[in-house]
Amino acid sequence: MLEGKNVNLRVVEKEDLPLLAEWLNDPEIFGVFNPLIQPSKMELEEWYDKLSAEGKWFFMEKKDGSKIGAIHHLKDMEIGYGLIPSERRKGYCTEAVKIVVDYLFPSKDTVRIQARTDVRNEASQKVLEKAGFKKEGVIRKSLFIRGEWRDRLLYSILREEWKEPNILTKTTSQ
Ligand SMILES: CC(C)(COP(=O)(O)OP(=O)(O)OC[C@H]1O[C@@H](n2cnc3c(N)ncnc32)[C@H](O)[C@@H]1OP(=O)(O)O)[C@@H](O)C(=O)NCCC(=O)NCCS
Repeated sequence: MLEGKNVNLRVVEKEDLPLLAEWLNDPEIFGVFNPLIQPSKMELEEWYDKLSAEGKWFFMEKKDGSKIGAIHHLKDMEIGYGLIPSERRKGYCTEAVKIVVDYLFPSKDTVRIQARTDVRNEASQKVLEKAGFKKEGVIRKSLFIRGEWRDRLLYSILREEWKEPNILTKTTSQ
């Protein structure tokens, strides 16, 4: 588990997939800026096995252990995240992104971590900027969501822009 000040990140295990599926399948949780995917249990397990070889999903947990969201990184060091609506605007996602950055740079041989977000997703853009990411540009018509091709912004943080872990306070086996 990756421990921060107000949020911990706990690796999603195979037995946690039903909750992750519930969130992924709920447009209220992963939002209007993501495709409305409806994965079956089998698809999700296949995808989990594939993802485990390349990246990782974490639950965002509050210090009382309640699960409030999820964040993942892929093999190409791209990250993505979402929170349950009742826990938004409390700084949790910004902290989770900082924790993932603090975890990835020391543990992976990568010079950059990136994220893509819909040009209209103001909340996500703010999270990335507050976590030290810089805007690289617009990727035009790069994601098909709800019947239309949407423009997204590409953000990144480079290894030299990241100083040292400052949010990730502890890594434990729990
Ligand atoms: C994007 C999302 C993860 C942000 O999570 P969060 O925990 O609410 O973000 P934070 O609390 O860390 O907020 C960071 C900043 O964004 C601002 N912000 C949050 N939601 C906002 C909104 N809807 N509109 C404008 N600004 C917003 C916060 O006020 C804060 O800025 P401040 O510190 O200057 O006040 C959350 O809104 C969400 O789950 N959205 C649906 C899924 C999604 O869009 N995921 C990203 C796909 S790329």
